[in-house]
Amino acid sequence: MTWPPARVLDSVEPAQPTDEAIGHAVAALRRGGLVAFPTETVYGLGADATNPAAVARIFEAKGRPASHPLIVHLASASALPLWARDIPESAKLLAQKFWPGPLTLILERAPTVPDAVTGGQDSVGLRVPAHPVAQALLQAFGGGIAGPSANRFGRVSPTTAQHVRDELGDRLEMILDGGPCPVGIESTIVDLSGSAPVLLRPGRITPQEIEAVIGTPLGRASSASPRASGTLAAHYAPRLPLRLVSGATLDAAVREAASQRLVAVLARHPRPGYSNATVWMIAPLDASEYARLLYAGLRQLDESGCALILVEAPPDTQDWAAVRDRLARAAAGSAGALESGAAHRLPDNGT
Ligand code: TXA
Ligand code: MG
Repeated sequence: MTWPPARVLDSVEPAQPTDEAIGHAVAALRRGGLVAFPTETVYGLGADATNPAAVARIFEAKGRPASHPLIVHLASASALPLWARDIPESAKLLAQKFWPGPLTLILERAPTVPDAVTGGQDSVGLRVPAHPVAQALLQAFGGGIAGPSANRFGRVSPTTAQHVRDELGDRLEMILDGGPCPVGIESTIVDLSGSAPVLLRPGRITPQEIEAVIGTPLGRASSASPRASGTLAAHYAPRLPLRLVSGATLDAAVREAASQRLVAVLARHPRPGYSNATVWMIAPLDASEYARLLYAGLRQLDESGCALILVEAPPDTQDWAAVRDRLARAAAGSAGALESGAAHRLPDNGT
């Protein structure tokens, strides 16, 4: 093997988001290239949403099945009519209240939206991100940027430019570095393309906040809902097996597992003096803080040299719903759970 490995040699350096860098990024997008950019949720893997060849490159880089649709990022809600048709009043109200911000709306697509973006579905996912670098890029580009999370399919989303570089650095023309993402988990997704609004993916914006705006209860995703890879049971997964354990049983679980192999723990309290865990990471007690640090934490635990990650389950309350969703999927998608078939036990309903 040669050193340094070719992947590192070819990998792009994250660029500070100067006006000049934004100009280069826009030129790369116009050429059909891929540009990773920060949003307030996670980093996106961007391509010109009107260029099917560019969009195909996203699927190729991520290793994502072509049938899984992409979110199109827009600079402002005023572009909605270019991308969606028969826009319901509820969409206008939600856009007014939460855009720019961590909310994705699924709407009936305008006829001009390429099949490559929607996976052939009759709907399209649209979001106006709030991050200043995403905004600068979108405004300078002047069109829609198709952008899934900038990770390999099924893996943990990136919340820093370095995460993107580690996973996809050799596939991109540019990575715009906007620092760590402040929300840390992917946007809330609400499907407004059917007869009743449905929550497809929980996020920072809660169902209660959405219901307060639209005045009707949100349904929950079922297997009849349109495909959303974020709602697959096995998703957002680290490489190591990850197990969720209740606070009450954490001590016993650690003791037993650590007698056989090296164990990394993500707990909600400091390490007890007697613990035989190899790595002990203390998670924030606040749900937003926990979400902000979750994916970076999982990446660190993944690289800890341990053989198993044990995570103390957060409280079963509304404010923790999005974090619990990601942790449950990480457990279902991680190596150990897949081996034992546990990935099939989680309902495919995005909650
Ligand atoms: O916060 C986010 O939403 C980030 C940032 C980069 O904006 N993006 C993101 O994209 O998480 P992605 O592709 O990793 O997840 C978007 C989810 C996928 O599960 C996709 O299947 C679903 O949205 N989706 C997109 N368009 C859809 C549609 N028309 N119908 C149903 N689901 C859709
Ligand atoms: Mg994703």
